[in-house]
Amino acid sequence: MTQRADRGFDHAIPSEITPRAVYEGRRRWLQQLAAGALGTGLASWAGREALAQAPAKGAPLPGGKSAVPGANVMDAVTPRGLATTYNNFYEFGTDKADPARNAHTLKTRPWTVTVEGAVNKPRVYGIDDLLKLSAMEERIYRLRCVEGWSMVVPWVGWSLSALIKQVEPTGNAKFVEFHTLADPKTMPFVGSRVLDWPYVEALRIDEAMHPLTMMVFGMYGEVLPNQNGAPLRLAVPWKYGFKSGKSIVRIRFVEQQPKTAWVKAGPQEYGFYSNVNPKVDHPRWSQATERRLGEDGIFAKKRPTLMFNGYETQVASMYAGLDLVKNF
Ligand code: MTE
Repeated sequence: MTQRADRGFDHAIPSEITPRAVYEGRRRWLQQLAAGALGTGLASWAGREALAQAPAKGAPLPGGKSAVPGANVMDAVTPRGLATTYNNFYEFGTDKADPARNAHTLKTRPWTVTVEGAVNKPRVYGIDDLLKLSAMEERIYRLRCVEGWSMVVPWVGWSLSALIKQVEPTGNAKFVEFHTLADPKTMPFVGSRVLDWPYVEALRIDEAMHPLTMMVFGMYGEVLPNQNGAPLRLAVPWKYGFKSGKSIVRIRFVEQQPKTAWVKAGPQEYGFYSNVNPKVDHPRWSQATERRLGEDGIFAKKRPTLMFNGYETQVASMYAGLDLVKNF
């Protein structure tokens, strides 16, 4: 989640993140300044996609239109070239262009997902069985990163609730953890001290069962590119993007609220809930506004961030009575 100085954001680096990443970001900024690239670069802020090449088109993975309320926002869809080259996937590096450059080493077949913990029917799914578990839908969701940028992506997948119902959680299943693969052989930054690997995210069980919570296998009508979390990831549209764990290998149902990777890295900065909330600032910057990738230039006025990322009608009732300042 580092912010690069050359992109005009504040730095959002928990204390654990290597000073090297910060240093390299600054060095690149200085190099660009020296090369005169920043003058034009800042004006067309979206020009950063040239930092990495968009992937070749993947195998088709179409989805039917979703009937889930709120599943198709009317905002303009972010160009595929941006959504596939401006990424956070720290297992492949902390620069936004690193995942597109480095994630080709990830092997997405064979791939299994172990579903375990407080369930009556624990199971190990092969990825091809999971693909068939429920009907694929295309849903256009906003993704709002805690760093202050956002995009609008046509994801392909199905509601996670379909899988949860199949494994039959017991009464002790209060939370659900999602573990990303942590393979130092294919993920060059696993082993770095940036985060405590594996990357673990978690939801409360009712959040995981919400129809908008999506198990994602594709985007833009094709199989997910590695840098976006192949072969399967989460999309939880009312929460900051980091709640959407990528390249998931384990789903565990537990009784106690889990310690997630970002909560461990910076508990004051990244809370368990991480609901998009313009009224609750990050300790080092405001969360009231955002820049839409590909639309809002560096000099444009930022657009207001919406409560629950615009999904308030669908999700607010889950948090009735919860102090959203304390439970940020
Ligand atoms: N999942 C893993 N395993 N590792 C990560 O570093 N980054 C998160 C989330 N999932 C991350 C992750 C963050 S901070 C964001 S904003 C989204 O992925 C970005 O998803 P995208 O690159 O597809 O836009």
